[in-house]
Amino acid sequence: MLPSLQQTKELFNFITSVTDEQNVSNNLPKGTSRRHYQNVAFIASRIAEYSGLNVEKAFILGLLHDYGEYIEASTPETFHGTAGYDEMMRLGYDDVARTCLSHSFFDDNFKPEDFPAYDKKQIIRAAELLKERPFDDYDRLIHLADMMAPRDKIDTIENRIAMITEKYNLPAAVALRKKREALWLKDYFDSLTERNVYTLIGL
Ligand SMILES: [Fe+2]
Repeated sequence: MLPSLQQTKELFNFITSVTDEQNVSNNLPKGTSRRHYQNVAFIASRIAEYSGLNVEKAFILGLLHDYGEYIEASTPETFHGTAGYDEMMRLGYDDVARTCLSHSFFDDNFKPEDFPAYDKKQIIRAAELLKERPFDDYDRLIHLADMMAPRDKIDTIENRIAMITEKYNLPAAVALRKKREALWLKDYFDSLTERNVYTLIGL
């Protein structure tokens, strides 16, 4: 189940009222996270429009995919994926819960060592929860859109991978695999949309 657009707006206003302040505390421009969520919603809905996917669903999932970020930023031993999943399940929005959980991953075949910046127990839990259902096009769409939205910008996969490699100090092999996976996803949506998705989002 998905929230309505009005409910989505209220949830977005709530998380961004917190993340705006967290961004400033972390020496980032106010609204960095807010713009990231909006960019992911924009990219996802644009690609959905040309892929035969539901545009409103893509927009809602994009806007709320990082719902748990404000919790991860303020609570030790949390991971924004599972934190967002728990909040969305509590509210009954299981489709958003799934995206909160899946958007950081290409598939359910990953290990905590691949994500050294995140809480190990929560990464194991995320992998277990994700195995309950195969990845679908909405999982793939939001993961790809997230990959093209570094910080508060819209950018290529290559630049995004370089940014997260540095941010999370990823081992070279992990960074290379992430790049290959992201480029596979881009090819997948290039094929579904019958165009280069970069051109759909002004790159
Ligand atoms: Fe994100």
